[in-house]
Amino acid sequence: MNQTYINELKDHIGKEVTLKGWLYNSRSSGKLVFLQLRDGTGIVQCVVFKPNNEELFENAKSLGQESSIIVRGTVKEDTRSSIGVELDVTGLEIIQNAHDYPITPKEHGTEFLMDNRHLWIRSKKQHAVLKIRHTVIKAVRDYFDDNGFILADTPIFTPAACEGTTTLFEVDCFDDDKAYLTQSGQLYNEATAASFGRSYAFGPVFRAEKSKTRRHLTEFWMVEPEMAYAQLDDVMTLGEGLIKFIVERVLADRREELTVLERDITKLEAILATDFPRVHYDDAVKLLKEGFVKGELENDFEWGGDFGAPDETYISKQFDAPVFVHHFPAVIKAFYFERDQDRPELALGADLLAPEGYGEIIGGGERAFDLKFLEEQIEAHNLPKESFEWYLDLRRFGAVPHAGFGMGIERATAWMCGIEHVRETIPFPRMLYRLKP
Ligand code: 4AD
Ligand code: MG
Repeated sequence: MNQTYINELKDHIGKEVTLKGWLYNSRSSGKLVFLQLRDGTGIVQCVVFKPNNEELFENAKSLGQESSIIVRGTVKEDTRSSIGVELDVTGLEIIQNAHDYPITPKEHGTEFLMDNRHLWIRSKKQHAVLKIRHTVIKAVRDYFDDNGFILADTPIFTPAACEGTTTLFEVDCFDDDKAYLTQSGQLYNEATAASFGRSYAFGPVFRAEKSKTRRHLTEFWMVEPEMAYAQLDDVMTLGEGLIKFIVERVLADRREELTVLERDITKLEAILATDFPRVHYDDAVKLLKEGFVKGELENDFEWGGDFGAPDETYISKQFDAPVFVHHFPAVIKAFYFERDQDRPELALGADLLAPEGYGEIIGGGERAFDLKFLEEQIEAHNLPKESFEWYLDLRRFGAVPHAGFGMGIERATAWMCGIEHVRETIPFPRMLYRLKP
């Protein structure tokens, strides 16, 4: 294919090239038209000079935003350009001259932009966010692939709940059977970990959560590693390694995008040199109580409760790095957690709270080992035992201590990007009241 990509132009200075893309923006002044051409790899300024070719000049002037065009020209070094080059146009082929593109350079409201998400993803900032998402995902895969984990995907249609019945999406199946959209691949990961030793799943999960916050999607992507012969500490060590690997990779490969987003990268760099603190739930509660006394929190936190967003933000603000909180009260956690042998009211779980108010990005822990204990938990949580018989087999045949976690890709990406809301970190977000486009 006779095409040069914008991110390769620096290697073609002085040469004629053909660029294929879309008109991002344009302006004209006197005898010049400046076309901002984007092709997915970058944006370059293409200069059309009237005296060179009048017809070409008129055609260039007639182009509407997001017209699809093929541009020929000579690559010229230009120190004022952020990519170091611009193009002297010698030829223009109009594939489609588009008019009245709805997203103009002026400000638009979020609802409008979300309704036009299929077009909005062409905009500079959205483009940068989604490229960072790509790099986060690539880093996640490399990290597990290079550390002895086998990718073993888990089903989306499932017969039972993993994370409690209140956030289950129900689907009609054949012959009046009900299925549920998976909330987490974890239970299946426990089976694959018993087969491969270390395995991971990576795919979409669903939560019928009626939460309309900047951290919640109803469909999101989760990566979930699971390790046989592992305990709570191993979860925190693996999670810390993963997060540092992602941060390193994003800093190395996505400088340009971080600049577009005006991300303060010193905050990301800082965590690489720091051991992530590991705070017992009891101590986290003490911190929250102090915060209330100091007037920095609105409500006094009671031991036994689950953290709300302001609590998570407050805890994370006490540290320079992401912080693990571990040993939660079992009553606020899912049925499958192993208990602390000395304090059975505590679950061997750990959540990682990201800095800068991004909240929980990792949740996981050690899984219950004992068959009888799990049977009791399934009953206590009002879960249908017959749907879990296969899962209980994992305790009947070669049970071992094992542990794992889940990391939400969108929350991790929002934090990397330093953006307000997770809805911009996935190409087509699904949220409460948002099923379109
Ligand atoms: O803490 P969660 O619910 O943990 C589990 O599902 C475990 N079964 C995972 C495991 O141990 N294998 O979810 C894990 C992570 C959270 O820390 C968060 O990053 C993300 O998934 N997450 C969400 N992201 C976006 N929208 C939501 N509604 C989310 N709920 C959880
Ligand atoms: Mg959680």
